[in-house]
Amino acid sequence: MPHQSPITGHQSPGNDIRTALRDGIAQLEREHTPSAPLAAELLLMHTLGRDRAWLYAHPEQELGAEARGRYFSLIAQRASGVPTQYLTGHQEFWGLDFEVTPDVLIPRPETEHVIEVALERLGVPAGAGAPRRNAALRIADVGTGAGCIAVALAHELPGARVAATDISAAALEVARRNAARHIVSARIDFIKCNLLDAFFPQSPLASAQGKPAPNHPSLSFDLIASNPPYIGREEAAMLPREVRDHEPEAALFAGETGTDIYAPLIAQAAMLLKPGGILVLELGYNSAGHVSGLLGAAEWSDVTITNDLAGIARVASALLKVRVP
Ligand SMILES: C[S@@+](CC[C@H](N)C(=O)[O-])C[C@H]1O[C@@H](n2cnc3c(N)ncnc32)[C@H](O)[C@@H]1O
Repeated sequence: MPHQSPITGHQSPGNDIRTALRDGIAQLEREHTPSAPLAAELLLMHTLGRDRAWLYAHPEQELGAEARGRYFSLIAQRASGVPTQYLTGHQEFWGLDFEVTPDVLIPRPETEHVIEVALERLGVPAGAGAPRRNAALRIADVGTGAGCIAVALAHELPGARVAATDISAAALEVARRNAARHIVSARIDFIKCNLLDAFFPQSPLASAQGKPAPNHPSLSFDLIASNPPYIGREEAAMLPREVRDHEPEAALFAGETGTDIYAPLIAQAAMLLKPGGILVLELGYNSAGHVSGLLGAAEWSDVTITNDLAGIARVASALLKVRVP
């Protein structure tokens, strides 16, 4: 159901909160901005440093000239296609507040299924006090972006140590700040590399650094999770402008059809997971068949596809039977 702002229900002239919201919504709707009332509310909350309850309670509060200027500048940017989250600098994921900048993909609610599947596979259902919750698990998050998967898992699993990789140094800086924000920095290693290359002694990065691998307690993992780029270049023209023109290219595209990352990532996981280790991958639209095919190889068992709330195949997970040498 479209979000409707109860504050703007009455007409009022002037320079108060109700008028600012009404005018902001109208400006966004003229540019066909999706969820215009919600965006206008979030931008006004951000401008004033107030929550929604405060806005509702003070519809007649006057807006100063300076606040009004900042608010309508944000409205103009949103109307031109900049995502609200890049304007406010925030996105919630797994109940945690994450900093987001244009250097990182905005974490999506669908990616929470990656966390759900990972916790279920580990025998640690969300919210339950299972003993394995405190186990000394070794986890990798490949393509960490804002760090949402790494931080959410570290937060849920207090005994876990996480290696979070990304090819983008700028993204890793944001992820580091998010780990600090949620007080899990001491248990996450942030590593700039292609996929999991840094964990292979022969990798150019590892040799260039003169060391076989980052100083991680082990080279083998209990769980490897990833939300890799999975959009095809051939689909770029169909993306909303918010995504195509504002989110980082490296976070979106994986070759012409969007499936380029899965094969090398699955091959590396087969070499780096412990026997019985868990692989959890977010799926792009229409990539379930491709990924199930790759996981059909002899070394994988218990391959499962999990749908998201819209009924779309969203997560592939599997167990490694025997570690590939
Ligand atoms: C779809 S985004 C996911 C970000 C975050 N994990 C999330 O779920 O919101 C993919 C991330 O993978 C990174 N990436 C792309 N290609 C990569 C590669 N070959 N190796 C490591 N990271 C890569 C991008 O920079 C981006 O941060």
